[in-house]
Amino acid sequence: MKVLGLETSCDETGLAIFDSEQINSGNQGLLGQVLYSQIELHALYGGVVPELASRDHIRKLVPLFHELLEQCKISKDEIDAIAYTKGPGLIGALMTGALFGRSLAYGLDIPSIGIHHMEGHLLAPLMGANPPDFPFVSLLVSGGHTLLIAARGVGEYEILGESIDDAAGECFDKAAKMLGLAYPGGPNIAKLAETGDANAYSLPRPMLHRGLDFSFSGMKTAVHNLIKDTPGSGMGSASDPQVRADIAASFQHAVVDTLVKKCVKALKQADMSRLVIAGGVSANSHLRTTLETELAKINATVHYAPPALCTDNGAMIAYAGYQRLQAGQADDLAVSCVPRWPMTELPAL
Ligand code: KG4
Ligand code: ZN
Repeated sequence: MKVLGLETSCDETGLAIFDSEQINSGNQGLLGQVLYSQIELHALYGGVVPELASRDHIRKLVPLFHELLEQCKISKDEIDAIAYTKGPGLIGALMTGALFGRSLAYGLDIPSIGIHHMEGHLLAPLMGANPPDFPFVSLLVSGGHTLLIAARGVGEYEILGESIDDAAGECFDKAAKMLGLAYPGGPNIAKLAETGDANAYSLPRPMLHRGLDFSFSGMKTAVHNLIKDTPGSGMGSASDPQVRADIAASFQHAVVDTLVKKCVKALKQADMSRLVIAGGVSANSHLRTTLETELAKINATVHYAPPALCTDNGAMIAYAGYQRLQAGQADDLAVSCVPRWPMTELPAL
């Protein structure tokens, strides 16, 4: 089954074609994928402007679709089904992909299905020839969400913990901004941290001993104070590159340490031995290597997608769509998008 996936929930227009018959191809079953990021468009305003995001998705969807067909060397008639992001996200942005996907499916007389963006992230590490088996604990860490989930099957999700304020990715983005680094901050902090000493400064590990919920707003304040009080941390002429690298490394280490400790706790609580990490922050290599070391100590394993499938993309939507479509699920003609959508409301297969 060839499934076209469309992701337009925020500031990336992502399209991909997943082919279940190519699952052993070594390419995650992907025939091809295209991604257009609106980062430059929104950079001027210091954050995503919803109306501009919707307009840009509309401008890009059709040309990207043609580019994808060319890349995959197939015609549109060879597509068997279409999956689009139905929520959560910016309503206008979601509507562009949903309406494009639903109309195209109608025109081609094929089924379509609306997908939960975070389920797309959650299932992305399962793409490919040797996916980890259910059940597993999933750590979903993106720009908008920090969730620990016990996943017992597709659509069988129990929330074990979540952030009570900022998401982990948001915390990376805000710390990056304070250091004068560009959005998205995660990869830029990670780069700067490469030459830094992670133990140079001590930053808090919020809510470490309180259940499985997270809180990152205190971390943000701590970084703010650290930058304010540390000579050389700024961008100007008095800037000290080593001080800046040490701050980035200490910050990254504090976030990663907090995430890892909660993951270990969640695995023990759920009595599970597999951890699957997903969402933009799961691309962080310090997080990946620390989890590998710490989980080995408790005989647990960690699984993740290649970096390009961790951040927003159309492939994860195509794959989640495939899982649901092959179980007989599909949407009717009505298009409804949901800006807020708890994952626990999703139907099981
Ligand atoms: O999943 P995603 O692409 O979009 C949302 O659904 O939010 O996640 C984006 C977030 C941003 O906050 C970005 O800074 C963070 O993921 N991120 C990273 C890395 N790559 C992306 N954070 C830390 N390290 C990275 N390498
Ligand atoms: Zn995302």
